[in-house]
Amino acid sequence: MSELVLLKLGGSVITLKDRPLRANMRAIERLSTEISKSGVKKLVIVHGGGSYGHPLAKKYSLVEGFRNASQLRGVCETHLAMLTLNRLIVEALLERGVAAAPVSPLSCAVTRRGRLVRLELSPVKQLLDLGVVPVLFGDVVMDEELGFTILSGDQLIAALSMELNADRIVLGLDVDGLCDKDPKQHPDAELIEEISPEELERLLPGLGGSGGIDVTGGMRGKMAEMLAPAKRGIPVFLVNAAKPGLVLKALRGESTPGTLIACEGRRSR
Ligand code: IPE
Repeated sequence: MSELVLLKLGGSVITLKDRPLRANMRAIERLSTEISKSGVKKLVIVHGGGSYGHPLAKKYSLVEGFRNASQLRGVCETHLAMLTLNRLIVEALLERGVAAAPVSPLSCAVTRRGRLVRLELSPVKQLLDLGVVPVLFGDVVMDEELGFTILSGDQLIAALSMELNADRIVLGLDVDGLCDKDPKQHPDAELIEEISPEELERLLPGLGGSGGIDVTGGMRGKMAEMLAPAKRGIPVFLVNAAKPGLVLKALRGESTPGTLIACEGRRSR
């Protein structure tokens, strides 16, 4: 049985952060090449929103849920922007020989107060069985109490990893990994190479939260989502996807700079 790997492509790697609705095509194409060369047989990709998702979600206050009808246009615009970004990624993969299919969370996920309560995964499972790479993304989703909200790609990939019994998660970020302090505030912050979920839980309060345009929780939010899979024994590897070649190595399971979150005894990369 081939191992199942889940890869997150962070929005700040695949889009140009300060320019709404601008994709970083150079990064998308390079990462698609790395994915095509990785040889991973069973792969699910989840990508973030970056400048396609966060500015619109913020403009229409989508995380907080329904307040007035003027937000509804924002729900649709945000989803459409995410579909546009998703298409760019899927097309880049197809051009490199990776059979990849868009899977839209708005159509298969429901949350309650922002937390996933339902996820219809039979199409994803069947795509995987056929050898197709499902490509999901952080999205605006229907919420049983709020009406709608934003589901982050991080919450989604954590849930997918547990539902699909993934062998490991690779998080492609625009930083080298997890530091012992918030590097934006502490220049002496050091990269952590390996950490257990229990140690990570203790570090969480000191990590950087949402800053600027990010509506889904920054590094602290990201790490909080990774606790559950890591505690279940699914290793999570954080790698700088903005640096050429690192995602390729991480997908192959080769040793590369980054942060490994794993229970003692599962610390092999
Ligand atoms: C956000 O997803 C999706 C929207 C705002 C619509 P993520 O939270 O996973 O995105 P990034 O990786 O931080 O950009």
